[in-house]
Amino acid sequence: MAQCLICDLKVEKFIDFGQQPIANGFLTESQFNNEYFFKMEVGFCPNCKMVQLLEQPDREQMFHENYAFFSSTSDYMKEHFKNFAYSVIEKQLLAEDSLVVEIGCNDGIMIENFLNKNIPHLGVEPSKNVADIARSKGINVTSEFFDSKLALDVIEKYGKADAILSANVMCHIPYMHSIFEGIEKLLKDDGIFSFEDPYAADIVQKASFDQIYDEHTFLFSVMSVSYLANIHGLEVIDVEPQVTHGGSMRYTLAHKGRKEVSINVQNQIQKEKELGLDNIEAYNNFTRKVNIVKDDLMKLLNELKEKNKKVVAYGATSKSTTVTNFFGITPEHLEFICDTTPTKHNKFSPGAHIPVIPYEKFKDSKPDYVLLFAWNHAKEIMEKEKEYMEANGIKWIMYVPDVKVID
Ligand code: SAH
Ligand code: TMP
Ligand code: ZN
Repeated sequence: MAQCLICDLKVEKFIDFGQQPIANGFLTESQFNNEYFFKMEVGFCPNCKMVQLLEQPDREQMFHENYAFFSSTSDYMKEHFKNFAYSVIEKQLLAEDSLVVEIGCNDGIMIENFLNKNIPHLGVEPSKNVADIARSKGINVTSEFFDSKLALDVIEKYGKADAILSANVMCHIPYMHSIFEGIEKLLKDDGIFSFEDPYAADIVQKASFDQIYDEHTFLFSVMSVSYLANIHGLEVIDVEPQVTHGGSMRYTLAHKGRKEVSINVQNQIQKEKELGLDNIEAYNNFTRKVNIVKDDLMKLLNELKEKNKKVVAYGATSKSTTVTNFFGITPEHLEFICDTTPTKHNKFSPGAHIPVIPYEKFKDSKPDYVLLFAWNHAKEIMEKEKEYMEANGIKWIMYVPDVKVID
């Protein structure tokens, strides 16, 4: 029986995705025989309300010198993180004598905004290839995993932080107690820790099951983050919903009693209770919805295959690894996945082994249908492709929150 990573009590399993590969593990044909798989199951802890993977690959298997996710591929996200950075500069009155630490800064998409304002900063980024891109922009980066020990090293070298930031990283880390211990030590008395991640309420409501993959150990809610903060002498002082990654939540924490707590926190917890996120039934209901999407999408893809329609996919996202492997989508269904990320090109998608090709070739391919794996970037992508799609009568296929064909 699985034990909760936060409170050690029993976790209730609600979905089994079967054997899954490393979601960002794009590979060559010669690597097919040695591909790594793990059993991906998700559970809910009725005590601390945390939704979590029951098993996860070792961190070095996911985050390394060939990490395939480059944050700056989306212009929309660049703008989003600029706004995030500027809001923190304003809130904490950051200046040339401050310190900002970003955990998981990737290629520097957010932290470069502090560099540009001459605010002292440190990026912590264990994946060396993306850390090097950040360094090439002049950003100060250490290529290590953040934890309580690293926090002490940072304090020794740089002092304590006025702001600790993180986006789409906290939910990746199973050893949350070590992280929160580190944050508690590294944060100045009046500092803030602000982080955002895909939000459990959005995932449950939209049945966006593909937010679940090897890297995403946790699906946070305000309830579960508050529980965790409380154990470590911190408290959630504000929460702000975000539209990014199909629905995220930004949590701002401070040392207990140091800052005013916004009414947003209790209000959001109330909403979560109304959605039943404190009870396993909401998650079982999510599983039922996901199975309907699975049946509908496979029925559609099988029909299109029989009719000899050309179907391709857009965005070799980490999320798509869960979709293809859980649903049983093969190269028979999808001719290729196009993507703008050079390191994914001319490789195959994890597990399902669908060819990944450069985006530029997409326009020559004239498919009948395009399955949008990067649905979280739908607005940006659909605007960009509108003319081409319309001129050639190409249709989009969407599967969140349900299966739809869009002309
Ligand atoms: N913040 C970026 C990147 C998210 S991808 C964005 O929102 O686009 C997740 C990143 O977290 C990866 O670059 C990965 O290398 C990093 N990461 C994983 N575990 C980490 C840890 N323990 N400490 C710091 N970074 C970590
Ligand atoms: P994400 O969903 O994890 O942000 O990953 C998005 C993936 O989609 C990434 O591999 C880059 C790719 N992508 C494109 O190919 N074209 C685009 O216009 C955008 C926004 C993303
Ligand atoms: Zn628990």
